[in-house]
Amino acid sequence: MIQQLVEQGYAVVDAALPADLAQALIGTARQQIELRAHAAGIGRQTAHAVDATVRQDSICWLEPSDKTSAEFLAFMEQLRLQLNEQLYLGLFSYESHFVRYAPGAFYRKHRDSFRGARNRLVSTVYYLNPHWQPADAGELVIYRDDDTVVDKVSPLHNRLVIFLSEEFPHEVLPATRERYSIAGWFRQA
Ligand code: OGA
Ligand code: MN
Repeated sequence: MIQQLVEQGYAVVDAALPADLAQALIGTARQQIELRAHAAGIGRQTAHAVDATVRQDSICWLEPSDKTSAEFLAFMEQLRLQLNEQLYLGLFSYESHFVRYAPGAFYRKHRDSFRGARNRLVSTVYYLNPHWQPADAGELVIYRDDDTVVDKVSPLHNRLVIFLSEEFPHEVLPATRERYSIAGWFRQA
């Protein structure tokens, strides 16, 4: 995965987590979103606004007090240490949320971080969708700076996508069924 990240700026890894953790996370995602989710906003702090023409997902932050969420976060902590050790990225923290897209919901092309901001350095998206079929759509489309398509990634169960946040505009296409994921960001501060 780290080699892919170095060579192409992003990596797609299947069977990323132990199967039992992947399975448990599906239930936890549904439950936590049911209990605590809100419409996702755009921008930060004062600029934060909910704009359904840009994104239509519901999110809730992972709470380490939940055992299954804590196991996911422990895995990401290992990944953070490995990235720092092998790539000297100086990643300091990780933030993540459960995400649900209702059928038809999308997230228009955006960046997770802007050059120079060096806020979110590495983005992760982990998918929780068993039996996802090509006809279910809902792909993550990864673009280059010049807007050519680099890759179209289906949100397959237990698949992890990781990419350099400043390098790739990306978008989430509408799906025909509910689409669950955990989106996260390694930050420099
Ligand atoms: C995001 C995002 C991609 C996906 O939440 O910022 O781009 O495939 N998610 O869910
Ligand atoms: Mn994004």
